[in-house]
Amino acid sequence: MAVLIVGAGMVGSQAARQLLDRGETPILFDLAPNLPHLATVLDPGAVKIVRGDMLELAELIAAIQDNGVDRIIHTASFLYEGVLRRPYAGTKLNLMGTLNVVEAARQTGVGRVVFCSAGFIYHGVWEGMAGQPEQVVDEDTAMRLVSDRPRALYAVTKLSSEYIGLSYGEQFGIDFIALRYGGVFGPWKGPVSGVPGRFVDQFARPGAFGRPIVLSDPFLNGVAGGGSFLYCKDAAKATLLAAFARPEDLKTRVYNINMSRTYPIHETIEIAGRVFPNSPVQLTPEVEALLLGQRYQRMFDITRARQELGYVPDYELERAFTDYAEWLRAYEGE
Ligand SMILES: NC(=O)c1ccc[n+]([C@@H]2O[C@H](COP(=O)([O-])OP(=O)(O)OC[C@H]3O[C@@H](n4cnc5c(N)ncnc54)[C@H](O)[C@@H]3O)[C@@H](O)[C@H]2O)c1
Repeated sequence: MAVLIVGAGMVGSQAARQLLDRGETPILFDLAPNLPHLATVLDPGAVKIVRGDMLELAELIAAIQDNGVDRIIHTASFLYEGVLRRPYAGTKLNLMGTLNVVEAARQTGVGRVVFCSAGFIYHGVWEGMAGQPEQVVDEDTAMRLVSDRPRALYAVTKLSSEYIGLSYGEQFGIDFIALRYGGVFGPWKGPVSGVPGRFVDQFARPGAFGRPIVLSDPFLNGVAGGGSFLYCKDAAKATLLAAFARPEDLKTRVYNINMSRTYPIHETIEIAGRVFPNSPVQLTPEVEALLLGQRYQRMFDITRARQELGYVPDYELERAFTDYAEWLRAYEGE
């Protein structure tokens, strides 16, 4: 049997690589597969790549039936800024894409569907916690339906997709799991669309080549910087654990997945100093002013993922920076 990976981007490519490593058959389904990137992560000759649009239900069903698929990993999505720039197209893609994936699974009798959600759905809860000491947020954290609702359309599409999938599970027999990733970064050839990836790239891209690291973007550093990270290889690892988990081990079906702690930006700067000793970190005055006194009071608890999926991250931030820098030196050049 085969695993259909919808979306051959940063996480989808790593999931395919790890499936190959364990002797499984990944089928990569993508609107516009990035072949130069895939060649840096896996042997493109070893995977089947299907060019298709998840907004076309018939194309998903054909990919499932033509390839004997019995599990689906659903990664394709517009990310935060994509939805911000193109709200109609982004909302349609994220909601209709998930609906099509679970409907295709229902019509073809596919068992497991793993959906890539985001810790960003707690967005409204963080705002209510501003100024409070460190908070631990688990998957069932109390969220006032109005005041704490996610304030960004991207987060709304992710939470709504979870509800669509879970309802398909309860009412139509789909075996659905949602993984709420922290900010994902790591090997990716092409424009980096995720905010966390761009935050990390400020350090890793110059650092890998011994150039000075300059933090100059107030949005990336003041608003989005620091926090809960996830290396893309661990995202793929958690996703495969979910794809192959025994149903009897799953009590909750929604899991936080991250490095199991947060990294305030001053600590990220210290880590960059150790990994990239030839790249001094400079802050523009505007960013320096924004970061004065900044602290993070959120920690997304991964206890459920550890207990039910057996997920333990392999990469903390320093190891992830080191691994990513190796990939950059090998494939991106100066
Ligand atoms: N990157 C992050 O920081 C982050 C954080 C939390 C959650 N997530 C979630 O993880 C998942 C994977 O993220 P990523 O960084 O690998 O994304 P990515 O942008 O690298 O990959 C997404 C892939 O989906 C494909 N795609 C887009 N529309 C499609 C369509 N209609 N049909 C088929 N394929 C289509 C794109 O071509 C792209 O290759 C996403 O669902 C994202 O929301 C990502």
